[in-house]
Amino acid sequence: MSNKLNAVGILGIGSYLPEKILTNQEIEKIVDTTNEWIVTRTGIGARHIADENMAASDLATEAAKKALKDANTLPEEIDLIIVATVTPDMHFPSTACIVQMNIGAKNAAAFDLGAGCSGFIYGLTVAKQFIETGMYKKILVIGAEALSKVLDWTDRNTCVLFGDGAGAAVVGPTDEGMGILSTYMGADGEGGKFLTIPGGGSRIPATLESVKNKLHTIKMDGSEVFKFAVRIMNRASQEAIDRSGYSLEDINYLVPHQANIRIIEAAAKKLKLPMDKVHVNLNRFGNMSAASIPVALDEAVRQGKIKKGDLVVMVGFGAGLTWGSSVIKWNK
Ligand code: ACO
Repeated sequence: MSNKLNAVGILGIGSYLPEKILTNQEIEKIVDTTNEWIVTRTGIGARHIADENMAASDLATEAAKKALKDANTLPEEIDLIIVATVTPDMHFPSTACIVQMNIGAKNAAAFDLGAGCSGFIYGLTVAKQFIETGMYKKILVIGAEALSKVLDWTDRNTCVLFGDGAGAAVVGPTDEGMGILSTYMGADGEGGKFLTIPGGGSRIPATLESVKNKLHTIKMDGSEVFKFAVRIMNRASQEAIDRSGYSLEDINYLVPHQANIRIIEAAAKKLKLPMDKVHVNLNRFGNMSAASIPVALDEAVRQGKIKKGDLVVMVGFGAGLTWGSSVIKWNK
């Protein structure tokens, strides 16, 4: 192992959305809300919903297969699988181990990572360390969520916001000066109380009472999360740009977490990026937590909005509270 760090990039990317689409008009029939309220306050128009028998690992597996194909990589070449999720199939085994079995990545270690919507950036950061040092060559980083399974479908404050999906990236060595130039992660446990699923862990184990009190579904103080998000999106993006050695003017494209169009527009404005340089898909997919950023990145690449040599900022925030950002010089 030499002392020189390897450059690390995304060698292939893929995403998967379950077939079923739930529109705002259909949600109007479930809770007291309107398409107009949802669109104007959030920018969300529809979201994909996993079937009854479909869990996060199923979505992750499909995304992983596409990323492997895109990277021209065999499952046996993968050294490590990291699944970022807040909706694992179960407490254990990890969703990453289930994906390892599903895709036949028999040489890979596997673990889940819990950092809310920042999970994909956290995962990318972990993967980067292993590949930089030469300890591993190829790592699958996946963001996968089946959030529809943990929503209170009587709570209009939360059930209109989220969707299901998965995005995956094969991370590995690339050419010097290309790939993941910087990453930045942060956390504020004090703010954790604003976004939780309180039940089902060791603090409040599942009981008839906990189910009756709906403690196994997402609870959110929307306005607190909103204020935090607007503040942190700008700060985290700037930090990753500073660490990359480039400046704001050099940035070609922004791939932000997809929680609310007003949060994204505020971040773009502060970064002085016109909206045609910002990827937005929450109108079709809603907030898919850890899956939002990799799905958006995959879409942007496929639509030709990101080309080889472009400087791309990815930035997210979420439960924890956590945040993460990264600058990539697109190497494919
Ligand atoms: N339809 C109609 N009315 C609604 C709905 C709805 N779906 N949801 C809330 N309201 C009402 C509330 O009841 C409240 O009414 P009241 O004032 O009579 O009590 C009012 O709308 C709330 O208004 P605001 O707080 O001004 O709504 P706001 O513009 O803040 O939008 C929202 C709420 C969309 C939740 C916003 O705060 C937000 O996007 N917050 C950030 C959410 C987020 O980013 N979450 C990240 C999750 S990350 C993860 O890790 C899972």
